[in-house]
Amino acid sequence: MTPSPSFNSSIPTVTWIGEADGHIRLIDQTRLPGAIEFRDCRNVAEVWEAIKVLRVRGAPAIGVAAALGIIVGLDKNGGPTPIADAVSELSRYLQTSRPTAVNLFWALERMRQKAASISADTPWQDARHLLWQESMIILEEDRHCCHRIGEVGAPLIQNGMGVLTHCNAGGLCASEYGTALGVLFRAQEEGKQFHVYVDETRPLLQGARLTAWELKQRQIATTLICDNMAAAVMRQRRIQLVIVGADRIAANGDTANKIGTYGLAVLARAHGIPMYVAAPASTFDRKLPDGSGIPIEVRDAKEITRVNDVDLAPEGVEAYNPAFDVTPAEFITGIITERGLIQPVDRETIERVLGTVTASQ
Ligand code: MRU
Repeated sequence: MTPSPSFNSSIPTVTWIGEADGHIRLIDQTRLPGAIEFRDCRNVAEVWEAIKVLRVRGAPAIGVAAALGIIVGLDKNGGPTPIADAVSELSRYLQTSRPTAVNLFWALERMRQKAASISADTPWQDARHLLWQESMIILEEDRHCCHRIGEVGAPLIQNGMGVLTHCNAGGLCASEYGTALGVLFRAQEEGKQFHVYVDETRPLLQGARLTAWELKQRQIATTLICDNMAAAVMRQRRIQLVIVGADRIAANGDTANKIGTYGLAVLARAHGIPMYVAAPASTFDRKLPDGSGIPIEVRDAKEITRVNDVDLAPEGVEAYNPAFDVTPAEFITGIITERGLIQPVDRETIERVLGTVTASQ
């Protein structure tokens, strides 16, 4: 157990310790907010497990952890050449950890492409060093993207607003700062006063455990609500804007995010409230024409029926636990990216703001 540091400026969600022969250090998000514990990952199986059980979670953070996971998976002293074969094998393994957040696949593909670009006669340790540098660039780019998303989105936040968010799209979902919460952090840095309503986000309570914790760290006015209160709170005119993150966005703007997001979008439409998504370009999967092809992770029913070894439902009752849902583009007012605001949300505007599709998108 490490004593609680002050995280006023940035939370070390996923970091690399040392040089190329170092290791990954994560905040174990399953332990928050009760305990701040760090977990070191020194081999690829530990990274796979950390992603699977949500020690590290949130689309951008999963991507960064996977890229770093390739490095801890490559033997320091040498292995079969070309190194690209080893990277492909590690990548196939890490891809099986979670299916929905495309950032995982994006980061692994980028590592695979880097490995393929390294000449086959490059000594193993030199090749490994080049791959480590690429993973450090992915980490650094993620930080930069989140801060840019904050800058692009902050003008949407007005003094006196009530803002509703769901799940956790803060510093804990990325290498730092976050996406949806990055917008709010930036607005706070600009001196704006606003109030954030946080959905608790059943079943794993990312809103209650993580988002409320982050907002409290930053001393942003925060009220926690149960997921089923959002409609009433909107009707009471406490909410002027909804902002969430994303796990995968199709070419037409259909957006997969934490289960419950679609319901919020429908409620926001019914109450005339704008609904924004904040996500980096790496969260777009433009090979998918629309959201119908997005794979939705279905997790263990016990996440619904048991909490801390206490039964919440009768033994043996059937429960359905999809971790994500897809919000149709027509319900989304705008998507805030590091490359600019996509509004209206349609294929043409996405192409104009993000540019043409590259091999890794
Ligand atoms: O299951 P999780 O906690 O990984 O789900 C995370 C979310 O749904 C976030 O809202 C999403 O990854 C966006 S974070 C930028």
